Amino acid sequence: MSNAREIPVRNGNRKMSVSNSFDPSLSFSTSPGAVRSPTASHANPAAAAAKQLKPFHTGDIKVLLLENVNKIGQTMLKEQGYQVEALKSSLPEEQLIEKIKDVHVIGIRSKTKLSEKVLKHAKNLFVIGCFCIGTNQVDLKYAAGAGIAVFNSPFSNSRSVAELVIAEIVVLARQLGDRSNEMHAGVWNKVSAGCWEIRGKTLGIVGYGHIGNQLSVLAEMMGMKVIYYDVINLMSMGTAQQVTSLDALLQGADFVTLHVPELPETKNMIGAAQFELMKEGSYLINASRGSVVDIPALINASRSGKIAGAALDVYPNEPAGNGDYFQNDLNRWAEDLRSLKNVILTPHIGGSTEEAQTAIGIEVADALTRYVNEGTTQGAVNVPEVALRSLTADEPNHVRVIFIHHNVPGVLKRVNDILGDHNVDKQMTDSRGDIAYLMADISNVNVNEIKDLYQSLEELSSRIRTRVLY
Ligand SMILES: NC(=O)c1ccc[n+]([C@@H]2O[C@H](COP(=O)([O-])OP(=O)(O)OC[C@H]3O[C@@H](n4cnc5c(N)ncnc54)[C@H](O)[C@@H]3O)[C@@H](O)[C@H]2O)c1
Repeated sequence: MSNAREIPVRNGNRKMSVSNSFDPSLSFSTSPGAVRSPTASHANPAAAAAKQLKPFHTGDIKVLLLENVNKIGQTMLKEQGYQVEALKSSLPEEQLIEKIKDVHVIGIRSKTKLSEKVLKHAKNLFVIGCFCIGTNQVDLKYAAGAGIAVFNSPFSNSRSVAELVIAEIVVLARQLGDRSNEMHAGVWNKVSAGCWEIRGKTLGIVGYGHIGNQLSVLAEMMGMKVIYYDVINLMSMGTAQQVTSLDALLQGADFVTLHVPELPETKNMIGAAQFELMKEGSYLINASRGSVVDIPALINASRSGKIAGAALDVYPNEPAGNGDYFQNDLNRWAEDLRSLKNVILTPHIGGSTEEAQTAIGIEVADALTRYVNEGTTQGAVNVPEVALRSLTADEPNHVRVIFIHHNVPGVLKRVNDILGDHNVDKQMTDSRGDIAYLMADISNVNVNEIKDLYQSLEELSSRIRTRVLY
């Protein structure tokens, strides 16, 4: 009676099994009389016996995409058979509340605010996709408490940032920003003093994560020597070498580039004392977060000639929209910074490329699909990350149980009492604060038992949401 089907996914070679699901939002709220046959495209002759317990098929999944979500992401969701409505802009709160009542999946970017007030109306919603890096626009805690997983795409633009930094290294070494500004002002100023090749120079990478790694490879390809400092011990790319302290990196690098997260420990990580340690005539690049560099100290280091140049893409205060906002009333030192020689200033564009937008579309649509079809929460930002290998068509009487619950003592015992009459093939549970996520694949489940199983789990007091995929 297996209803599982192998559907090829655009993103990579992995095949995913698409299951049917027993879920209150689908079986009861949206489809009260939903005891019906699957459509021809989802029909499986062997599934006929399961009809009365198969309350919906993928075509019942309603997806609302706002803010002109990337086209590839839209297509991937449509190819799953979901009902996808895609709008070009975000919606005013009242309209959003009306729309969200009905949908199981919502995809947004940074402008749509999914507050507690809005989410309270989202009775059927079980997953949110943020087709962007940040998730501040969503009330993550409320969503988790309501059993709504949230996904985003934090690393899709790593390559874009790394390429920008490579460009900046060359631009700084050759003073290209200043030469270009002079030419735009009609001034011909042909100089070679203080202009360098980057071949053979040392790049010091602070924070050797997704971006630092990419950059390491690119810099070596340009003939640079790479050293890096990170709080954890990390395998180097190519012939890069990890150093044991930030001080050692600052003393050894011709170019220092920062790729650390915003943390209390990284606030003003580069200040007057660190500029002192840097080589005479070295360069600083910051495309991480604005709080990492003490900008007045950078202004002093630039004016004194201690550093020969700098590139900044991020700032302590950044305006919400485009316009002539980069003034002293935004950051008190803005005009001093703008007056410096060989200092490149860019408006937080490190990750802003067409490729990064496409990668975000693919990554988030893939995460949503895996969550809807398989219940996998890998990459979720507000619920525990749990995954089991896919159910396949070779396992016809298997059922996947997903039980999102409050993390209180005794729950596992009660769940296992309910599952205990079946063979539990694999099971995984994890918690994050108050929320726990349990996934179990059980075999030899008679199709008539699925509803009982579901009902018993729903009756547990710790329950937040139950899904049964089969
Ligand atoms: N400019 C942009 O448009 C743009 C785009 C994407 C990311 N970013 C920023 O770039 C930074 C790096 O992003 P990522 O994706 O590479 O992050 P990541 O999490 O993959 O890597 C960060 C690395 O920094 C290390 N680290 C943490 N604290 C440290 C410390 N005190 N000293 C040294 N190393 C430390 C971590 O161990 C990790 O290896 C983040 O701040 C991110 O917000 C900026």
